[in-house]
Amino acid sequence: MPKDKTPEGNDVPVIELRNIDKTFRSGKTAVSAVRNVSLSVSDGEIFGIIGFSGAGKSTLVRCINLLERPTSGQVVVDGVDLTTLSAKQLRAARKNIGMIFQQFNLLSQRTVANNVRFPLETSGVPRARADERVRELLQLVDLSDKADVYPAQLSGGQKQRVAIARALACNPKIILCDEATSALDPLTTHSILDLLKRLNEQLGVTIVVITHEMRVVEQICDRVAVMDAGEVVEEGRVRDVFLRPQSETARRLIDPAYQTGSRVSLPPNTLRLAFTGEESGAPVISDLTVQCNAMVSIVSANTENIGGKPFGQMLIEMPPDAASQARICAYLDKRGISYEKSDASEGGGRMPKQAASAPSAQAPASDASNACDTSQNDVPAIGKE
Ligand SMILES: Nc1ncnc2c1ncn2[C@@H]1O[C@H](COP(=O)(O)OP(=O)(O)OP(=O)(O)O)[C@@H](O)[C@H]1O
Ligand SMILES: [Mg+2]
Repeated sequence: MPKDKTPEGNDVPVIELRNIDKTFRSGKTAVSAVRNVSLSVSDGEIFGIIGFSGAGKSTLVRCINLLERPTSGQVVVDGVDLTTLSAKQLRAARKNIGMIFQQFNLLSQRTVANNVRFPLETSGVPRARADERVRELLQLVDLSDKADVYPAQLSGGQKQRVAIARALACNPKIILCDEATSALDPLTTHSILDLLKRLNEQLGVTIVVITHEMRVVEQICDRVAVMDAGEVVEEGRVRDVFLRPQSETARRLIDPAYQTGSRVSLPPNTLRLAFTGEESGAPVISDLTVQCNAMVSIVSANTENIGGKPFGQMLIEMPPDAASQARICAYLDKRGISYEKSDASEGGGRMPKQAASAPSAQAPASDASNACDTSQNDVPAIGKE
């Protein structure tokens, strides 16, 4: 689960977006991709930006290094408004901002080591120093043994490790990740997110993670902004958004029924259980069945076991009688497991905005040439049942 850093307090903002608007115009048509977004990311934070496709996430993140110039608004990085800089000053400022993409954007004709070396070359780092830095970086991402192979000989996860090493080459203060794990399988996603978290902790690098997957945010982010139709519709600590989503978009993003496509057939009397890693790891569903003398069925689950603690959401269907339901809710309250009840009157499955709950409850244009310039449903796991 994400660290509970306080964004308020003494944290220094390293990125401040102030009233960012971005409109794409082509002839008579105009697309308003980002609308009046203001965000602040603290130094050393891992900040998530989540939303469905077309929400404006990539456009917004590309405004941070001015790959997209906002139509209006200010982009303040490390105290400097990038929109006021000359081209030369901007190139220098971008060395402080690394970027990684879903499609890795590696140079296929260069070996792994030479991909990582590329930004060092363009920055004029002397050869011996560059050699040493490449070795350090490949060690950091556990790829020392792949230095001399070509990208085509690597797995997706390994390619992304190369891209991460390349993004770190110039010691940036910030790394922007645009759907960096979306092309990877769940296990590889996990290991790449682990790597990003380790780099954040070891190097103190601030990371902005763009994703459409709540589980990515859950695994590594401290805070998250939810985007819809170009706007930030909700922002907060991951735990708070996860447990008590305020916007319809956030609710849809965390609702496993949406993710599995089973939402239309969601039965009535459904509870959404939210596991945040704070509950005991003792079996939940089998214990609940015994203690409450009530059979429940699991409608869907989007949970995983991270560090021995359960994280994620589970939808269960309760028996229709009120007495059984009351026993189940009392049991969950006692266990400190957060839950929301579905609203059967809407055909089942729609979670009310403030339901009962336990208190604890394509970055297309950027190719490798600007690399430095820019810079389970695992039901048993949850209860070991
Ligand atoms: N260069 C462009 N020219 C015109 N419209 C654009 C351009 N780039 C993005 N858009 C439009 O801006 C809106 C936001 O797109 P954006 O790529 O930022 O969304 P996204 O949230 O990253 O989506 P996805 O999850 O699919 O990557 C979309 O309507 C898109 O069509
Ligand atoms: Mg995108």
